[in-house]
Amino acid sequence: MDIAKLRSQFPAAEQFLYLDAAHQTPLSLPVRAALDAFYDQALNTAGPKKHWLTHVEEVRARLAGFLGAEPREIAFTKNTSEGLNIAAHGLRWEPGDNVLLLEGDHPNLVYAWLGLRAKGLEVRPVPQDGGPGKKWADADTFAPYIDSRTRAVSLSHVMFHSGQRNDVAGIAKLAKQHGAEVVVDAMQSLGVLDLDVRALGVSALAAGCHKGLLVPQGLGLLFTPNDAERLSPTYTALAGMADTNENLAVGTGQVKLRPDAQRFEIGNFNLPAIHALGAALDLFEEVGVRSVEEHVLDLGDRLIQHLDALGIRLAGPVERERRSHIYVLDLRAPGWPEFLASEKVRVSSVRDGIRVSFGLYNNAEDVDRLAGILRRGLTKLSDQAA
Ligand SMILES: Cc1ncc(COP(=O)(O)O)c(C=O)c1O
Repeated sequence: MDIAKLRSQFPAAEQFLYLDAAHQTPLSLPVRAALDAFYDQALNTAGPKKHWLTHVEEVRARLAGFLGAEPREIAFTKNTSEGLNIAAHGLRWEPGDNVLLLEGDHPNLVYAWLGLRAKGLEVRPVPQDGGPGKKWADADTFAPYIDSRTRAVSLSHVMFHSGQRNDVAGIAKLAKQHGAEVVVDAMQSLGVLDLDVRALGVSALAAGCHKGLLVPQGLGLLFTPNDAERLSPTYTALAGMADTNENLAVGTGQVKLRPDAQRFEIGNFNLPAIHALGAALDLFEEVGVRSVEEHVLDLGDRLIQHLDALGIRLAGPVERERRSHIYVLDLRAPGWPEFLASEKVRVSSVRDGIRVSFGLYNNAEDVDRLAGILRRGLTKLSDQAA
């Protein structure tokens, strides 16, 4: 299946101009079918739980393959916040240690660390203004702030409010030289960019699955490379134990945690969403995430050409290798959100303007239609202002 044919699998994309993948992606027919199949089994058989749990491990293995990881490096979580908190609280801190964050990063990332200030962690915001023309973060961004007490650097791979793609691999190299861990929020990049998580060199990478990975809310993942034992889980449950026995009797002896990422798993899984993820991975296997990345960047090229012609500035970077599927248009005049909604365009208002974000279901015509609507909006809203 090529990417053009995929659009028909996302009915919402045909019903209005859906340009809000960074908020959430519309459900696709195959994912819906996987959910239906799961609920049919639950309805008719009261739940073949053993079979479902086998399927969890199959999906874990496929997800790991999709990310360039091993199954033992993947934990299923509830969402990005849970994964980030597991990593932040799991590192061994001394009071007076510090963590470097980018100013303006996603609240769920910032709060995961702010919660640790009570235990003596210093949270150091790093300005992400790289100077004229540089709208992304790399090792040079963090170098002036890192010191011998820096225990971690934590950042979003792709920033939700600008679409900038930060140089995680370069930042991880710098951090390693200083003995610091790198904890990444990949909520916006997973399923959009062709990621090889191990090659990034990070200590932990967390994401939810309801955007690029195309499943409904309530499922996330945490990647921790082979040495998961460096992180201690804050919570413990049967799922994370190495020595379980058939009769489920627990003594009061030592807690023996699994050596792999599953040590962070708590209780039952979000089984419907894991089934849905299996169907989403089928889609990616057909189309290839590399094609998704090229596709959204091509749509970005086209959008930038239109914006140039219309005189609309982009808040984030224009360089292809520094951007993603998110484009923030510097349209801050009051009235834009309402105007776009009245034209049946689904976008988000963010701090620097109107955020347009592409999914694998968007096409060049969507971009051209948006440009026409923006042109009309510029006339209408400037007439109103006059
Ligand atoms: C960068 C980033 N991190 C995290 C989230 C959401 O966090 P969670 O998955 O915990 O709801 C979002 C958006 O919803 C995001 O854009």
